[in-house]
Amino acid sequence: MQIHTTIDSIRRARARSGRVALVPTMGNLHDGHITLMRQAGDRADAVIASIFVNRLQFGPSEDFNKYPRTLEADCEKLEAAGVAHLFAPDETVIYPQPQLYHVDPAPAQVAILEGAFRPGHFRGVATVVLKLLNIVQPDVALFGKKDYQQLMVLSNMVRELALPIEVLPGETVRAADGLALSSRNGYLSEAERAEAPRLHAQLARIRDAVQSGDHDFLKLETDAMAELEAHAWQPDYIAVRRRSDLQPPVQPDDPLVVLAAARLGRTRLIDNLEI
Ligand code: PAJ
Repeated sequence: MQIHTTIDSIRRARARSGRVALVPTMGNLHDGHITLMRQAGDRADAVIASIFVNRLQFGPSEDFNKYPRTLEADCEKLEAAGVAHLFAPDETVIYPQPQLYHVDPAPAQVAILEGAFRPGHFRGVATVVLKLLNIVQPDVALFGKKDYQQLMVLSNMVRELALPIEVLPGETVRAADGLALSSRNGYLSEAERAEAPRLHAQLARIRDAVQSGDHDFLKLETDAMAELEAHAWQPDYIAVRRRSDLQPPVQPDDPLVVLAAARLGRTRLIDNLEI
């Protein structure tokens, strides 16, 4: 695997690579990321991964400074997954001066769920991803369903700005006990790690109830929040939404997804399940 730290260098590699799939990440790679890399490999001649911890998408009281940076271990995993090129720029390459142009996602998409609790987050995500897409100019870009709203915002951005790129979603990869893999799981204490699968368990309970005909979404959501609170969680939201735009369901046959965010100790976890 070749490692590139400048825009010129990754562009030259891209030009030699035929059909290219890009998988943007912030590093500290786990099986969720690596599954996306392998899926990318099935769809292109060469996979380009990027690792960049994007300051723009972190709020002032969030974990930008302590976000885990594990480049050496990441490189070994990428190499083993058959990734051809890694773009791992410094901040001075992506933001040589403060970024003055931004992508503002549609207000209706960022006023809700994650966007409501993390003001500016999706603006930071969309801005850096547009920049990475412009730098690499891939044919395909892959994003995980683990970050369901992010996937929606980025798919819509690519479509609305007419980027010549196919967006492919990857299924959420989980630990055996159901916990969705996440770089932030490393913040959990041993006791918290043992408690953490409850988030997925509550989502699964809601999914199963809805599939069995229970459409009292508000009660299902409130009960799940209460169950988490009873086990020392601080939930931000648990919400049954329609998949297409993450707004509250209207038609009885709207395809649905249930999404959640909750804090366990000092760690904020998110997860979702399609219903
Ligand atoms: P990061 O959290 O590193 O995630 C990189 C990609 O891996 C995202 O598309 C995310 O949805 C996917 N991913 C994370 N955990 C996963 C899991 N358990 N199963 C499947 N896919 C998973 O998301 C970001 O970085 C950033 O916001 C980024 C898009 C790189 C922009 O900075």
